[in-house]
Amino acid sequence: MRLSSHFDVGAECVLYEGDCLTLLKEMPDDFVQLVVTSPPYNLGKPYESRLEIEDYLAQQRQVIEESVRVLKPQGSICWQVGNYVDEGEIIPLDIVLYPLFAALGLQLRNRIVWHFGHGLHASKRFSGRYEVILWFTKTEDYVFNLDAVRVPQKYPQKKYFKGPKKGELSGNPLGKNPGDVWEIPNVKANHVEKTLHPCQFPVELIERLVLALTNAGDWVFDPFMGVGTTAIAALMHQRQAIGAEIMPEYVEIAKERLRQAENGQLRIRPMERPVYDPHGAGPQVPPQVIALNSAQLPLLEEKQTMYDAPSETEETP
Ligand SMILES: C[S@@+](CC[C@H](N)C(=O)[O-])C[C@H]1O[C@@H](n2cnc3c(N)ncnc32)[C@H](O)[C@@H]1O
Repeated sequence: MRLSSHFDVGAECVLYEGDCLTLLKEMPDDFVQLVVTSPPYNLGKPYESRLEIEDYLAQQRQVIEESVRVLKPQGSICWQVGNYVDEGEIIPLDIVLYPLFAALGLQLRNRIVWHFGHGLHASKRFSGRYEVILWFTKTEDYVFNLDAVRVPQKYPQKKYFKGPKKGELSGNPLGKNPGDVWEIPNVKANHVEKTLHPCQFPVELIERLVLALTNAGDWVFDPFMGVGTTAIAALMHQRQAIGAEIMPEYVEIAKERLRQAENGQLRIRPMERPVYDPHGAGPQVPPQVIALNSAQLPLLEEKQTMYDAPSETEETP
């Protein structure tokens, strides 16, 4: 695989260390098929300065405008967000960000609710157990590969009980549409993919978007790339990946994860694994080991990182 630290159309993966707007300025119009990201939520995490909400939205507007410019006409943009919290009051970021996308003429296809079982325990409101993904398209003519992401039917043997199709199976044999509420464990301490990043995507969340909204060979872009989860999900499905990350230690972890993937050592939670059931029901699906299909990843710097993949026994979700 060819990895580059700067914009390069000949690379399969671009990991840019720095501000996403600087990378975006290098990128041509109509270049990527999918923009998928989780921006800082303005919560004062180690990688962000807390701003007045108006200033935060102005910053986001710049990144969104540039991301839309580099998006292909048949492409999609997925902005994954939770709540901004101001003195105990929550402001759902999808509500305040939606107008920015709408003003650019983007069309909202789904507001996907990502439900997970773990998080902070609130004492003055109900504990937050979901975030959302706003999925917009640039035009009405967009890629949507539903068959690639179908999930098993609840009652696969169910048949029509009357009418001309009586006795035939009523469901699609390829499985059902996954719907717009996705139950996927978030990456907490005992998740097989956990790194030191405080809020990384689970790979399976991005895999579903990559498979549904892009085709093999397409470019997938993450302006706030963190530890490279979007790049992993894209590369493991034969797409090309480009992303920016401002914190050097996260870029190093992203490179390390890609190195592990290329060496057949990166373990992820497989899409097929059911959510943990305390009663022990459901199949046991082991971690999936990623092995990208080429020999050596020519990393630009060969620095060692502090990151160690968690061991098998630490994983429960
Ligand atoms: C919510 S996290 C994204 C985590 C990512 N989805 C993952 O799976 O690792 C947001 C990331 O954006 C980075 N960031 C903040 N401002 C940035 C900027 N201007 N340009 C690029 N990255 C930035 C932060 O350091 C942080 O890692």
